[in-house]
Amino acid sequence: MNEIKIFSPATVANVSCGFDVLGFCLDSIGDDMVVRKTSKKGIHITKIEGYDLPFEAEKNVAGVSALALIEDANPDCGFEIEIYKNIKPGSGVGSSSASAAGSVFAINELLGKPYNKTQLTYFAMKGEALASQSEHADNIAPALFGGFTLVKSVKPNVEVLEIPTPDNLYATIIHPQIEIKTAEARAILPKQVNLNDAITQWANVGSLVHALHTNNYQLIKRSLHDAIVEPHRSKLIPFYNAVKSAALQSGALGTGISGSGPSIFSLCEGLDAAKAVEMAIKEVYQTTDIQFDIYVSKINAKGMKILNN
Ligand code: HSE
Repeated sequence: MNEIKIFSPATVANVSCGFDVLGFCLDSIGDDMVVRKTSKKGIHITKIEGYDLPFEAEKNVAGVSALALIEDANPDCGFEIEIYKNIKPGSGVGSSSASAAGSVFAINELLGKPYNKTQLTYFAMKGEALASQSEHADNIAPALFGGFTLVKSVKPNVEVLEIPTPDNLYATIIHPQIEIKTAEARAILPKQVNLNDAITQWANVGSLVHALHTNNYQLIKRSLHDAIVEPHRSKLIPFYNAVKSAALQSGALGTGISGSGPSIFSLCEGLDAAKAVEMAIKEVYQTTDIQFDIYVSKINAKGMKILNN
């Protein structure tokens, strides 16, 4: 195979209680990428559609992760990358991770899969670090593995745990059209946390993981709380509290900031509930001056998809 076309999905990181460790994969939004082998060595980004992003491999997250992979693999060819971006940078649903993970996933396929998903997560983190100035993998892991993931560690070794997804779980995502840079949303967070808040938070992470294993929707509901990050970041998102109240009143199991925002996610039991939440959130945002996109997605259990097979 000399050329591959892939769908690289959007993802929701943090999932309220799991800052920098939990994430899940979306189905109805993502980027397309085409990667082909070339006789010219190195990484060459030849096309970017959708958003204005750098073509130099060293300045593009997809290029940086691809360079990290080929530095390790030392293949006897190079790669051309075309990026068809649908996920707006700075939207909070893993735009940089989709690019960073997509390029290494595609190159790995073209090389005959020398690396496993954990190793690909490591290379993709190098690209993510360019965008957010921090090596975290809570968007990259669900993009590569699909479903829910927990990043147990990134240093000294990457370790990703795959968590089962209850069949009837849907996400409603609103993306207000403002940009929040991850690096800036990280900079406003306190360097130290209150012990009582930490206790609440790790109890919720543990109970959310247990709830996902046992299909316990009521326990999912009681676990989706963020005592540490949301109080700081919610101030950056216009009408955050109104959206959250409307979503919870209309039946969401839980609502929180998607990654570093401004997108807001709700998890819901069933498609009908997710659509009711979508309606309720729309009603809130339609009264504002801010443009927005809103969509309902099943949790994507597969992650990356190969489109040309
Ligand atoms: N865990 C990251 C954060 C996700 O919230 O900053 C965004 O890249």
